Amino acid sequence: MKYKKVNEVKTIFNKISYSYDFLNSLLSLGLHKHWKNQLVDLLKPIDGENWADLCCGTGDLSFLIFNKVWPNGSITGIDSAKGILNIAKERSKLIGNKFISWEMQDIFEIDENLKIYDGICMSYGLRNLVNVEEGLRKVFNLLSENGRAGFLDFNHSRINSPADIFQKIYLRVVVVPISRIFKLSKEYSYIEKSIQNFPKGNKLMEIAKGLGFKKVEYRTIFFNQMGILILEK
Ligand SMILES: C[S@@+](CC[C@H](N)C(=O)[O-])C[C@H]1O[C@@H](n2cnc3c(N)ncnc32)[C@H](O)[C@@H]1O
Repeated sequence: MKYKKVNEVKTIFNKISYSYDFLNSLLSLGLHKHWKNQLVDLLKPIDGENWADLCCGTGDLSFLIFNKVWPNGSITGIDSAKGILNIAKERSKLIGNKFISWEMQDIFEIDENLKIYDGICMSYGLRNLVNVEEGLRKVFNLLSENGRAGFLDFNHSRINSPADIFQKIYLRVVVVPISRIFKLSKEYSYIEKSIQNFPKGNKLMEIAKGLGFKKVEYRTIFFNQMGILILEK
């Protein structure tokens, strides 16, 4: 499995933080919100549960989980990039939400003895981790018994399949040129490379099973462009 440099990832997300939400909505035609809702619907968080949104970015999933676990549970958004986490905090402040905790931390440094969650979610984070298997192991260790986790990310399709061809064309012809207008083409070109280095769905399931997850499910959505991995400990 490919290791990426932690600082490289942090620099990217600090640099794109101010355009991140706008570009995400533009480039996915707003659909990323729908996919995130789909993930949360599958995870079914309920009032009173304690959840973590790892690699939370500007906090989309944290806000969705908040609506489900409030008022008796908790949701913590964790991200290692200060710039993007500050936007999550500003969003919270803007709507007067003091319930969500925001922590600036590398997920690999979370103390497993102190933090145990009923549920963990991650959107577009797993692919960006320095090591995907270690990321899944961390999630396993941070979950309570019977805890569940869900991951939304790009689906790594079979090479030269229609989904793979569409994904590459879309990234090269739409995403990179549009991000160039914002002087972020280098950062957005990185997506294609990161998908190539990301395990395919069946490999993700195999890794998760090997780590001890008792329920492992992977489904693709939006014409195989995105994938959702659901795990139960
Ligand atoms: C593509 S963004 C996704 C943000 C958000 N979850 C979303 O769906 O919009 C990936 C995020 O992962 C964070 N990240 C990458 N590696 C991390 C790590 N080891 N610990 C914490 N955050 C990390 C980055 O800082 C970035 O904010």
